[in-house]
Amino acid sequence: MTGTDWAGWQQSWDRQQEWYMPDREERFRVMLDMVEALVGPKPRVLDLACGTGSITSRLLQRFPDATSTGVDLDPALLAIAEGSFAGDERVTFVTADLKDPAWVRSLPYDTYDAVLTATALHWLHSEPLTALYGQLAGLVRDGGVLMNADHMIDEATPRINAAERAHRHAAMDRAKGAGALDWAEWWAVAAADPVLAEPTARRFEIYGEHADGDAPSAGWHADTLRAAGFGEARPVWASPSDTLLLAVK
Ligand SMILES: C[S@@+](CC[C@H](N)C(=O)[O-])C[C@H]1O[C@@H](n2cnc3c(N)ncnc32)[C@H](O)[C@@H]1O
Repeated sequence: MTGTDWAGWQQSWDRQQEWYMPDREERFRVMLDMVEALVGPKPRVLDLACGTGSITSRLLQRFPDATSTGVDLDPALLAIAEGSFAGDERVTFVTADLKDPAWVRSLPYDTYDAVLTATALHWLHSEPLTALYGQLAGLVRDGGVLMNADHMIDEATPRINAAERAHRHAAMDRAKGAGALDWAEWWAVAAADPVLAEPTARRFEIYGEHADGDAPSAGWHADTLRAAGFGEARPVWASPSDTLLLAVK
């Protein structure tokens, strides 16, 4: 795979994700602020559903003494992650399905200071997510943290939700007019790439376009994390459409 512009793929992934979440970098910055605040600048991190390794790259840029395990099931995104971090001994990537209860056995460590995840757990329904939170409570050391940044919907505020969604989509339509790639278009570009075509075909066999899942409220996440064994849980950042939920063990 020499000659592939992995940094270019990282950048195009970031642009595609930012089309959905213009505040994505701020969300990552606050996530790492809270890592520093609660577990310090040399954490052992589990980058859960890591995709191309967006969290890991920002983690290592800010905390060079950190280490990271990235877990994902998508062969194309993992190919970009592995290409980008090749030779970096601080980083390990693992292929695993988070819905398979045995996934934790694939990890290189028994415990982590921080489990960090973004824009991913809405790919799971609430029941498997509850089970996953239970497993993560077992992986995070006492005093360690879990942070989940995702779309979390409060069903009790339908008028706010509808207005926010319409406003957000109007901005997305304008950005699209200026050339932004959406999810399907980004994957079409990956499918046409000589190196990524094969893993991209496999990822469509695994997921189809996108897995089904739920986007429960921040309150549901906090309650479920406390029931799973975390001592405290609450949002530490929110935009009109996204929340960063922090749980401390
Ligand atoms: C939208 S991407 C986000 C990736 C990355 N966290 C980011 O912020 O750029 C969602 C990721 O969740 C992963 N994912 C979804 N369901 C999964 C599962 N059951 N097991 C492992 N990974 C999963 C997908 O493969 C994909 O990489």
